Amino acid sequence: MVKVPNHVAIVMDGNGRWAQQHGHKRHVGHKEGVKALRKVVECAAKSGVKILTVFAFSSENWRRPREEVGLLMDLFLLALKQEIKRLQRNNVRLRIIGDRSRFSTDLQKSMAKAEEDTAANTGLVVQVAANYGGRWDITQAVRKLALEVQEGSVQPDAITEEHLAARLSFSDLADPDLFIRTGGEKRLSNFLLWQSAYAELYFTDVLWPAFDVAEFDAALAAYATRQRRFGLVGEQVVSSTETAG
Ligand code: FPP
Repeated sequence: MVKVPNHVAIVMDGNGRWAQQHGHKRHVGHKEGVKALRKVVECAAKSGVKILTVFAFSSENWRRPREEVGLLMDLFLLALKQEIKRLQRNNVRLRIIGDRSRFSTDLQKSMAKAEEDTAANTGLVVQVAANYGGRWDITQAVRKLALEVQEGSVQPDAITEEHLAARLSFSDLADPDLFIRTGGEKRLSNFLLWQSAYAELYFTDVLWPAFDVAEFDAALAAYATRQRRFGLVGEQVVSSTETAG
């Protein structure tokens, strides 16, 4: 049986370059990026992936030219409104992770509504990271813990990794197994830093708007060949898989 990752995380990079290569302005690349995401969501669900987390807007993306940030916000608003029906039809549950307080009231409302409307869906969970940063996530978890220490409900010397993990975004879901980055760069860019500690990394030169079903399948196929050791030696992993049947 082929090994399918439970949780796939994606840095959807290369929209701008794709647009330039096709003689368009950058925002056309972002629009095409939404189309690519739609296909990947469908394909992930069909492949047996249970959670898909995508990086839509980083804490650092606010520094882009004002016009591009504005167009991205318009695109998010439109996509949230337009995609709900399709998500419902496909039993997809949508969640947004990140610091939403910096988004417009309209966008925050649309995010909450999309989450509410799809909350009862039991199929694929799609998490869209918006104004997200891995360091922000760890910092907000530390802030929560510090408050609990101050209140006396947690003792500093009793703090474990589990305490911190439980206060991160999506602590109720499993960590990513496969971390994909399109667009040729080989870095994490502050995405899911804590949660990707043991994720298998997959980098491709394909620009995000051109990332199609075949590319997604290629990433899953590469994952299926990897041996995940979690700090053990190969023989231990093989024997524990055999014991598990
Ligand atoms: C990176 O490409 C992409 C982004 C910063 C935006 C990603 C957003 C989408 C794909 C739209 C998703 C929409 C929803 C509703 C989730 P880039 O602009 O950095 O490309 P470049 O590296 O070629 O310049």
